[in-house]
Amino acid sequence: MPRTVKRARVKFAGREVEFVDRVTAIGQVEELAEGGTWWPLVVYGPEGCGKTALLRQARAILEEYGYHVVYVNPLAERVEEMLQYTPSVRSIVEEALRLIPEPYSRIVDVAISVAGHIMRSLSRPRLAVLMDDVFQAVGVDKAEQYVKALLNLIEWPPADYDKIVVLVASSEGVTRARIGRHRWAEIRAMWNMPREGFQQLYEQLPGPKPPLDEAWRWTGGNPETLERLYRAGWDVGNIVDSIIINKELSGAFVRRWDSRLWRAVEDPDYLWEEDEELAKELTERNFVALMNARRRDMWIDVPPPERDPELGIGRYYAWQTPLHREAVRRVLGAAR
Ligand SMILES: Nc1ncnc2c1ncn2[C@@H]1O[C@H](COP(=O)(O)OP(=O)(O)OP(=O)(O)O)[C@@H](O)[C@H]1O
Ligand SMILES: [Mg+2]
Repeated sequence: MPRTVKRARVKFAGREVEFVDRVTAIGQVEELAEGGTWWPLVVYGPEGCGKTALLRQARAILEEYGYHVVYVNPLAERVEEMLQYTPSVRSIVEEALRLIPEPYSRIVDVAISVAGHIMRSLSRPRLAVLMDDVFQAVGVDKAEQYVKALLNLIEWPPADYDKIVVLVASSEGVTRARIGRHRWAEIRAMWNMPREGFQQLYEQLPGPKPPLDEAWRWTGGNPETLERLYRAGWDVGNIVDSIIINKELSGAFVRRWDSRLWRAVEDPDYLWEEDEELAKELTERNFVALMNARRRDMWIDVPPPERDPELGIGRYYAWQTPLHREAVRRVLGAAR
C-alpha cells in the first residue's frame, strides 16, 4: 500500500485548511527528498497559483524524511514568518541570528549563512533550504547572484552533509531568462490548480456562491483569485479593477501597444510567434507566463492543457488568469 503523506495546514479564505490535490507535485517532492537536489530547483508560477502553499507542503514532506528545514520569505507580513525552521535546529538558528546585526533587513543572506551554520553544527545532516519570493525582494539584478550562492552551498558546503534540497519559488518571470542562461539551477514551471483540486477549494467556501464552472472560467484555477473573489462577494469587476490599479495598467500603456495588445488578448501565442517586445513587457508586469517547455519533467505538478483559448492558455504563452486578460481588455476597450 502506498504510504500516505501528511498534508500541511495552510490558510485559505480566512480559515485553516488542509493542503489539497497536487498529487504529482507531492510525489516529485518525495523524489527530491530521496535523492536531494544537485542544483537549486527554481519553480516559476503565476502570482497566487499556490507556490507558498506548496513550499509548506514540501516542508512537511522533507521533515518526514528527516530533513532540517529552513524556510525564508523576505516578503512575509510578519517578522516571525520571514524565517521559519524545523524546531530541531532552533538553538543553532538562534545562535546564528545573534551573531548577525539586524538579520531581518537581509534575511536571504542570513538564511544561507544559517544553512551553513547548521551543516557545521550537526554531523552530516539532511538539510533543506526553501526560498519564497526571494527574487522579488533582492531585485532582478541580484537573482543570479543568489542562485549562484545557493549552488555554492550545494557544491562547496562549509561542512559535510548527507543530503540537501534547495527549492526557490518565484513569480518574477523576468528573472527566468537571466537564471536560465547559466547552468546554476534547474528551472521548472508550475501552473494554477487543476480542475479537481480547484473544486476541492471551491467546495470549502461557504455559500452563496456562483456555479463551479463560472468560478473556474474567471480564475482559471488560480486559488488566490478564488479567495479574492470570495472576499469581494464574487464581484468580478472589483477584482479586475484592482488588477488594473495594482499593475498600473494605464491608458498610455494600452494605447502604446494597441492592436498588438488586442492580438495577445485574442491569442497569447501571438507573443511567441510575432511579438517578442510585447511578450517581454507583459512578462515583466506579470500578466503572462512563458510556458514553452511542455515536457512533463519540466513542470512541478501538472502542466495546463496545451491550449485553452477560453482561459487564455496557449502553447507558448498564457495569461496568468482570465481576469488578467480581462483587465487588459477592459482598459483597451476604454481607450478606444
Ligand atoms: N493545494 C492547496 N491546498 C489548499 N490551499 C491552497 C493550495 N494552493 C494554494 N492554496 C491557498 O491559496 C492561496 C494562494 O496560494 P499561495 O499564497 O500559496 O500562492 P503563491 O503562488 O505563493 O502566491 P504569490 O505569488 O502571491 O506569492 C493561499 O491562501 C493558499 O494557502
Ligand atoms: Mg507566495
